[in-house]
Amino acid sequence: MLFKNKLLTNLRREASEKREDLRRDWGEDFYECIRDIAEHPVVLRMKLYPHHGRTNCYQHCLHVAYYNYVWCRFFHLDADSAARGGMLHDLFLYDWHTHTARTGDHFHGMTHPACAYKNARKFFKLNRVEEDIIRKHMWPVTLFHFPRTKEGWIATLTDKYCGTLETSQR
Ligand SMILES: [Fe+2]
Ligand SMILES: [Fe+2]
Repeated sequence: MLFKNKLLTNLRREASEKREDLRRDWGEDFYECIRDIAEHPVVLRMKLYPHHGRTNCYQHCLHVAYYNYVWCRFFHLDADSAARGGMLHDLFLYDWHTHTARTGDHFHGMTHPACAYKNARKFFKLNRVEEDIIRKHMWPVTLFHFPRTKEGWIATLTDKYCGTLETSQR
C-alpha cells in the first residue's frame, strides 16, 4: 500500500514537471516567433488604446496570439503564423469606445478587421494564414466572410474567449 502511494506520488510529480517544462518551452517558442511584431513601435502603440475591461488592445492581442499558438501547436497546425496573425488581428489603432462619436462609423465590429489588415500589411509581410486570421477573426459578425484556414477558425474562438474573459474581469 505504502509502495503504491509512493509510486502514485512520483508519477504525479513527474507529470506535473513535464507539464511545467512544456509550458516553459512553448512559452519561449511562442515569444520568439512573435518578438519582432510584439516589439515593433507601431504594434506597441496598441498599449495606448483600452479594449475590453481593463485590458488594452496590445494585451488582448497578446492573449489571442498565445491561445492561437497553443491550440494550433496542439493540433499540429501552423502555430507560428497563428500567433503572428493573433498579435496583429486588432491593429486598428484607435479607441473603439469613442470611434463612432469621432468618425460616425457605427460598424466598428465589421470594419476594423480591414483596417487592422491595412495597417499590418504596411509593416509586415503577411502569409495566407496571417491574412485570414486578421481579416476574418470577427466571424460571424462579418457574415459571409468565413475564415478559409483552420488557424483562422481557431482565431475566431480564441478572440471571443479572450474578449469574454477580459470583459468579465473588468
Ligand atoms: Fe477584432
Ligand atoms: Fe480581438
